[in-house]
Amino acid sequence: MPVFTEAINRSAPILGQPPSVNRCITALKKRSILRFFLLTAQDHNASMDKPVAFSHGQIKDFLAFANSLADLARSITMRFFRQHLNIENKPDASPVTIADKNTELALQQAILKRYPEHGVSGEEHGEINAHKSLVWVIDPIDGTKSFVSGIPLFGTLIGLMHKGRPLLGVADIPALNERWSGSATFGSQLNKKSCQSANTTLEDARIYCTSLDMLDNRQQQQFSTLSQQCRFRGFGGDCYNYTRLASGSIDIVMEADLKPCDILPLVPIIEGAGGIITDLAGQPLTMTNYRTALAAANLTLHQQALRAIQQT
Ligand code: IPD
Ligand code: CA
Ligand code: CA
Repeated sequence: MPVFTEAINRSAPILGQPPSVNRCITALKKRSILRFFLLTAQDHNASMDKPVAFSHGQIKDFLAFANSLADLARSITMRFFRQHLNIENKPDASPVTIADKNTELALQQAILKRYPEHGVSGEEHGEINAHKSLVWVIDPIDGTKSFVSGIPLFGTLIGLMHKGRPLLGVADIPALNERWSGSATFGSQLNKKSCQSANTTLEDARIYCTSLDMLDNRQQQQFSTLSQQCRFRGFGGDCYNYTRLASGSIDIVMEADLKPCDILPLVPIIEGAGGIITDLAGQPLTMTNYRTALAAANLTLHQQALRAIQQT
């Protein structure tokens, strides 16, 4: 069956996701037969690799807990938003405030209280038991520059990794009262309602990157080549670009110079909405591969974008 074989071959860069019947059903609902075959191939491959050990009930409990963490984070970040804050510079010259530090500390303590057997990896307070098979990855405020500028496009990112791979994620945008969650088991939701990425073609695509400063010379050329083939390009946004991709109003995001907490919690949200995210070489994002990201609203778009940047 040539189509099936091609689907398996094409899926090579994104193999390794956990098995999920629901993702296949979502793909069928979207009437994408190719995507159905791809997901089937991925799940088959992954299930031969390592069976996924979580029931729907466990994923539901983890998601409920991640949502309670997002509530906790909101209660802290919003108390500081648009207040006068002392802004410190980190060694990489990026800003940090007491709001970032206090929020992460509260989340870290809540996680270790509820799941002492899990690990935590946060941006401001480092790692605790990061060798455990289940590790929470936290960015208390993604978009601190926006936060300290009074711009409402900042978020709290909370992801749960299993053996280094993203299992589920929550991205909370407190100032807009918008919260995304995502998992292979339950798909993606914005404020508890199912959300999906778009079927946009390359010439109609809305492409974003937070800042050209994050791209090296070659990556800037790649972004330039790719964005010239799109409808338009935009900058700024931080995590909000990826969440908008999961809701169908941004089509491609290309970034680099990322830390695990900047991107890994967003992976299940993008994939659960029908999007694709890999590094700039087309490889899956994990706890050891997180520095670059190419997210696209659908598989065809991702393949076209990847081809464009790899030919540059
Ligand atoms: C930053 C954001 C931004 C990315 C930077 C990160 P922060 O995180 O994720 O989009 O361009 O590389 O440092 O410092 O606001 O959490
Ligand atoms: Ca960040
Ligand atoms: Ca941060």
